[in-house]
Amino acid sequence: MEQPPPSSTGVAARLQQVTKQYQLGKTTVHALRGIDLTIAIGSYTVICGPSGSGKSTALQLLGCLDMPTSGTLEIAGQDVIALSDAARTTFRAQHLGFVFQNFNLLPVLTALENVEYPLQLTVRDPAERRERARAMLTAVGLGDLLHRRPAELSGGQRQRVAVARAMVKRPRLVLADEPTANLDRRTGAELIALMRAMQREHQTTFILSSHDPQMIEDADERILIEDGRVVESTRRQAPLAPAQGVS
Ligand SMILES: Nc1ncnc2c1ncn2[C@@H]1O[C@H](COP(=O)(O)OP(=O)(O)OP(=O)(O)O)[C@@H](O)[C@H]1O
Ligand SMILES: [Mg+2]
Repeated sequence: MEQPPPSSTGVAARLQQVTKQYQLGKTTVHALRGIDLTIAIGSYTVICGPSGSGKSTALQLLGCLDMPTSGTLEIAGQDVIALSDAARTTFRAQHLGFVFQNFNLLPVLTALENVEYPLQLTVRDPAERRERARAMLTAVGLGDLLHRRPAELSGGQRQRVAVARAMVKRPRLVLADEPTANLDRRTGAELIALMRAMQREHQTTFILSSHDPQMIEDADERILIEDGRVVESTRRQAPLAPAQGVS
């Protein structure tokens, strides 16, 4: 790290000496070989690195979708490894949003229903769930397409639904795995502007993985991973550009 880590009060996520091994028959795959990371609250961080370097694995751990083989993992001040599976599921539902590379939308549900879905665990009133989902889809520019199913939307529109679904519960931390990988340059740039605007407006912490030069260039903090290790971490010093409008 080029700078000392911020004090624990301003920390969204902290990984210390995190390793992750996958067992494939008799072969052990060392996906992460001892990662130390401190992510500040409200920051916009991009993890980059070659294919197979461990980016998706790191995001899955940060998103509590999987647990490390060893090391410590703290999200929003909570030692998530110490939680029971049920408590971790609740923690994830309340505080974390995930945007998958392949969108992971439920095909039989409309855009509105897909965005409403994650609120079922945390918001009891169905009318409030519907209203929040509608407002979030409007915010990402899909207010006219609420009742389309994923198959009836373009890739860029689906990705916007996925971002709306991740944001609708107002999570502390949004994890996005190569969110622009399946989008053309312009649609990718629009999606980046949209996530940036949300990050600034709501002070949500964003951690993304990407090969996309536009996205890497735009980050406040860039973390380069190679072969399961952090080899470079740079923080942008320049003041943030004003938020761009989202069309
Ligand atoms: N479930 C799994 N079982 C076994 N090995 C895995 C599993 N998931 C990932 N790996 C291996 O762990 C390493 C890191 O994979 P990971 O998916 O984190 O890479 P990545 O940086 O996201 O790559 P890409 O840019 O191609 O998405 C790779 O060697 C991969 O083959
Ligand atoms: Mg990956």
